[in-house]
Amino acid sequence: MLYSEKVMDHFRNPRNVGEIPDADGIGEVGNAKCGDIMKMYLKIDDDIITDVKFETFGCGSAIATSSMATELIKGKPVSEALDLSNKAVVEALDGLPAYKLHCSVLAEEAVKAAVKDYYDKNGIAYDADQFAFDDHDHE
Ligand code: FES
Repeated sequence: MLYSEKVMDHFRNPRNVGEIPDADGIGEVGNAKCGDIMKMYLKIDDDIITDVKFETFGCGSAIATSSMATELIKGKPVSEALDLSNKAVVEALDGLPAYKLHCSVLAEEAVKAAVKDYYDKNGIAYDADQFAFDDHDHE
């Protein structure tokens, strides 16, 4: 079977789909290769991600990875969300076919973009390197 059961489950029943109207951070990213778009909303209270939702115009793998990513960061400190790699999300899903790995990058980038938005809006200082997802290799 091409996709793991977890991927199929998250694709069929994605968790945390939707938008948060009064989100504290919103990240929107696109994948240049396929043109798919991902939008991530974070509600942050006292440095804890109390709620997270996503919307996507993306493929099934992008949906599954975003769904899993939201589950992994919900209730966690912002710093942990920043450390979430697409690799960790893929592992939590029991893998993705190699040619679909780039889809998982969208989820990681959207989370990071939303955290950056939160930092910017609140004047929180950060190390720009943490958001330099364009210049390192995702595997
Ligand atoms: Fe575009 Fe998967 S093919 S994100």
